[in-house]
Order: sequence, then structure tokens, then C-alpha cells
Amino acid sequence: MFKKISKIKKSKSKKKLVCLTAYSRPISKILDRHCDIILVGDSVATAFYGMKDTRKIDMQTMLNHAISVKKSIKKSLLVFDMPHNTYRNIREAKQNAKKVIKFVNCDAVKIESNGKNYNIVKNLVKLGIPVMGHIGYTPQFKKIFKTQGLKSKEEKKLIYEAKMIEKAGAFSIVLECIAKKVAAQITSSIKIPTIGIGSSDSCDGQILVTDDLLGLSGFYPRFVKKYTNLENIIENAIKKFKKDVKNKKFPTNYNTY
Ligand code: KIV
Repeated sequence: MFKKISKIKKSKSKKKLVCLTAYSRPISKILDRHCDIILVGDSVATAFYGMKDTRKIDMQTMLNHAISVKKSIKKSLLVFDMPHNTYRNIREAKQNAKKVIKFVNCDAVKIESNGKNYNIVKNLVKLGIPVMGHIGYTPQFKKIFKTQGLKSKEEKKLIYEAKMIEKAGAFSIVLECIAKKVAAQITSSIKIPTIGIGSSDSCDGQILVTDDLLGLSGFYPRFVKKYTNLENIIENAIKKFKKDVKNKKFPTNYNTY
């Protein structure tokens, strides 16, 4: 666990970190061959369950997805996204993070910053649980999606937040939807890697929601690059199956006992 964390920290300014989300074993099996970090993101709420926002997902559902994801992981660093309302105070955060490590045996947890919860990061790290921070657009705390760091007051606050999270002992920080200039300033002013999502190429690594890049989620903001259209590919296969069933071409003798 700690060897993987130290490898990620040492990669700063040496190589770009490749990070993606996974919610299930078949996907994490493929991702593990290519990713430095795999995140069981609370985006499962919107991308998989079709919930209105990520605040609706509960701990047990996240644990079930993480246990499935963990089954295929051989080399990537596995991070568990702590769901909303599971780290409101030190006691709650410790209790829930310990539960996650015990049941999933993952390498780290991610917690979104609300600009005040640095002590939570500090206490989890003190307990021996590696923490990934998350600043900028933090969906668990901000209702309206917008680029962060466009105003000078916001810029200063984001840089302060990143420094405080680093000081609290986090091993990396996700920068979500932060203006390029600020993302670059944060990246150069802290020693831990920054992982960008919608935060430009100045970050030390990039993360996307896998379902978005595969064309499966139906949610494609400008920061997403759709690398394929899995919805079409799946639909074509289903149509072929349907045609075969209707035309009595499936099952064949080979498929029959
Ligand atoms: O839940 C998630 O998928 C995330 C990423 C967007 C970083 O937090």
C-alpha cells in the first residue's frame, strides 16, 4: 500500500499520471493494465444509477462496487471516494475510513474539500490511511457546476486550500474544473501530484469518468473526450441478437445440448 503511494508521489514532474474511475470488476480488469490510479468514484451515483447528484449514493453501495473493482486489481493504486456525509467530523471519518480499508483493502480514500476539513485529512493520515484531496468544483458541496478560479479571490483560496491539504499529509489532489492558470500555479506550488479533470494539461496527471470517455454515460461536458461510442457498439450487438432470435438463427446446434 505505502510502496504504491510513494511511487505516485515520486512521479511528480517525471511522468504524467493516468487515472480513471471504475465501478465494476470487468472494467477494472482492463484499466489495471494501463492506469496508475483507479478511483471508485461517487460519480457511480449519476453515471450508473442515474441519480440527480452524487450526494445520494450511500456507503454500502459504494462498498459493493469497490469490492467488485478490487477483485481485478493487480498493480494500480486503488482509491475509494468517501461518499457525502461520511466524514463530517473526525470520529465519523475515522470510523468510516477504517471500515472502507477493512472491507475493500484499497490503498487510499479520497475526500472532497469544503475549505474547512483539513483536520479530517490530517487525522486519517495519522491513522495510517492515505488520503487524496479534491478541490475546485466539488460536487458533494457545490450545487452549481462552474469553472473555479476565474476570480482573483477564488484563485487565492484554491492555492491556499491545496497547500493546506498538502500540509495535512495528502499524497495527491484532484483539481476539478479549475482555470488553467490557477491549476498551473497550484501544481508548481505543491510537492504532491495534482490530478486534473477539466483543469488543463498543467496538472501532473489526468482523470476522467470511464463511462464518459466510453460514450456510455450520456454526459459529455467540454472537458470530456469521448474516445468511443460504446452505446452504439452495444446497440449493434443487441440488434444482431434480436434479428437472430426472430429469424431462428440463434441458438444453433452448437449452442444446444
Ligand atoms: O466521483 C468521481 O468520479 C470523481 C472524479 C470526477 C474525480 O470524483
